[in-house]
Amino acid sequence: MISDDVQKEFNDKFGYDSSRVFFSPGRINLIGEYTDFNGGHVFPCAISMGIYAAYGERKDNTIRMFSGNVPDAGIVEISLDNLAYNKADSWTNYPKGMMVQIIEHGYKIGHGFDLAVYGNLPDAAGLSSSAAIELLTGEIINDVFSLGISELDLVKYGQLVENKYIGVNSGIMDQFAIGMGKKDQAVLLDTNTLDYDYVPVEMGDRVIVIMNTKKHRELADSKYNERRAQCEEALKRLQVGLPIKSLGDLTESEFDENSYLINDDVLIRRARHAVFENQRTLQAKDALVNNDLKTFGKLINASHVSLHYDFEVTGKELDTLAETAWKQPGVVGARMTGAGFGGCAIAIVDRDKVDAFTKNVGDVYEKEIGHPAEFYIAEISDGPKEIK
Ligand code: GLA
Repeated sequence: MISDDVQKEFNDKFGYDSSRVFFSPGRINLIGEYTDFNGGHVFPCAISMGIYAAYGERKDNTIRMFSGNVPDAGIVEISLDNLAYNKADSWTNYPKGMMVQIIEHGYKIGHGFDLAVYGNLPDAAGLSSSAAIELLTGEIINDVFSLGISELDLVKYGQLVENKYIGVNSGIMDQFAIGMGKKDQAVLLDTNTLDYDYVPVEMGDRVIVIMNTKKHRELADSKYNERRAQCEEALKRLQVGLPIKSLGDLTESEFDENSYLINDDVLIRRARHAVFENQRTLQAKDALVNNDLKTFGKLINASHVSLHYDFEVTGKELDTLAETAWKQPGVVGARMTGAGFGGCAIAIVDRDKVDAFTKNVGDVYEKEIGHPAEFYIAEISDGPKEIK
């Protein structure tokens, strides 16, 4: 049990027993990639792989944090009186950033604490380990200090941590998927209005397999911010002739008829991805509601192709996984998930073919890329909570 491990880790590092244990899930996105900062729809779900935290109260203003996943960082000790970003503080910048947001929004964190975290969510693998640690911190502080912050506000604070503290201009998808996660449900979110709908993920004899490229990447070093800037520039050019607020306002044909306004091949491809992906996401939701997994699979395949050619965020590792998956028996669809540039892909696979699937895709991947991939079966889970 990981929750036992994290309590043991706490005792080893801090020399007393923790009083409470919390958990936050990671997420996968079924479809709707790079639509969240374009006013479009996303369709993610929280997963049972996540991060556990053991908590112990302190009377002073000191905060000590240790992660079993980043043992080299050791025990990071900070003070509530200085929560400024500091590269040397390693992963603890995420909890620190969350504390800054909570305080800036007028809440009081009454005293320090000790925290040991440990999880089975692979780090920097595109399953939102950073949003998980943000929402985990939010959950703990909200609960321990009885602050009464709504889950939606914690979600928004998490995005602000990325945008203002870490320097990644990400959208709201990851924090929303995690904060609002519900067992066995995906959430269709309109990122323009923040209206959302839960949709049961019922795949019958099929399962969602997560395929990890094991190619690490940090969004802060990736082309993520460049992609966002390209979408914004394309929108600006379209707005010269069209009364739109975001790329998500356009249908496919409206885009095709007006793309000449963008007048740049790279920017046209970036924007085309955002527009078409948004429409695919709506179609995919309908397909899932109608139990039409064949259509759903075709849409997720098309999403990957668009992320490869138009948005250019896949790379050899993710392409090898998705393209090899497409050729396997019992697969209805496969695509990269999350920001890309490495990280993970997902595939929807007949349950009784999963062993052959992971063996075949794993063999091809290792031969082509030179290191093994990892495979996990996704279970769709609830959002952050106290577990002990
Ligand atoms: C990352 C970001 C999200 C979203 C995805 C791409 O996960 O944090 O906001 O933009 O990439 O869909």
